[in-house]
Amino acid sequence: MTEAAVQIQTEAPVLAVNNIEVVYDEVIQVLRGVSIEVPQGKIVTLLGPNGAGKSTTLKAISGLLKTEDGEVTRGDIHFMGQRIDTAHAEEIVRGGIFQVMEGRRIVEDMTVIENLKLGAYTRSDNEVAADIEMVFDYFPRLKERTGLAGYLSGGEQQMLAIGRALMARPRMILLDEPSMGLSPLLVKEVFAIIEKINREQGITMLLVEQNANYALKAAHYGYIMESGKIVLDGTREQLLNNEDVKEFYLGGGNEERKSFKNLKSYKRRKRWL
Ligand SMILES: Nc1ncnc2c1ncn2[C@@H]1O[C@H](COP(=O)(O)OP(=O)(O)OP(=O)(O)O)[C@@H](O)[C@H]1O
Ligand SMILES: [Mg+2]
Repeated sequence: MTEAAVQIQTEAPVLAVNNIEVVYDEVIQVLRGVSIEVPQGKIVTLLGPNGAGKSTTLKAISGLLKTEDGEVTRGDIHFMGQRIDTAHAEEIVRGGIFQVMEGRRIVEDMTVIENLKLGAYTRSDNEVAADIEMVFDYFPRLKERTGLAGYLSGGEQQMLAIGRALMARPRMILLDEPSMGLSPLLVKEVFAIIEKINREQGITMLLVEQNANYALKAAHYGYIMESGKIVLDGTREQLLNNEDVKEFYLGGGNEERKSFKNLKSYKRRKRWL
């Protein structure tokens, strides 16, 4: 175990994924022994190329795997000391974990406010209206959009998806590629709000990203996943200064870098493979 891993463990993780394997359709093994720890109140990022298994990891945590014929076949997942890998998705939401899915997944033929109320479906208190105002404080531009959510821009839909998660008053939010499809300026804005929410609400976050530059700046610890395995982990400083991370993940986002998997020398050159 790395020094950083020992250090993070002393902070008592609120979420602990222990050596899980995930299989789809009873035969397709996607995760091969994945372990991740997220300390209370921190942002941890999970990085990796397309198809690495990042979304699968989030769905294993939120219980949404079951709706896709996926199963955790080995290992376990604990949240606040409770085992959750055997729990139903709705119990996991009630337990305090809310996933913001890849591709936003807002309800297009409902208004912004109706979408936000959906996020509060597990609540029975009478502070929902106040929380809608809180969401509008974080995302003022949503307040002005009174039509159907389907007409919102991509960035506004992402904001609505995050706002809907806040409406559940979660202890932890799982964010799947919040930067996907957004302009660089909007990515910056969305990440700034994610960090603000973490700071002000103390909500723990596990952030899946392909945009390693932004994700590592927001996170205090990171994991890199390739082909269903964690190949490297460390504090944000360790990862930002790691030569392989710099070369393969922080290169600036040009097409050449994105196709690094096709390089013949790729496997030889990477120290973690
Ligand atoms: N429901 C499913 N049934 C079968 N295979 C699946 C299913 N969902 C994902 N997979 C496979 O599992 C692997 C990992 O997929 P996953 O969506 O977890 O990757 P990812 O790291 O999130 O990729 P991306 O960055 O493209 O979103 C892929 O090979 C994918 O084809
Ligand atoms: Mg994904």
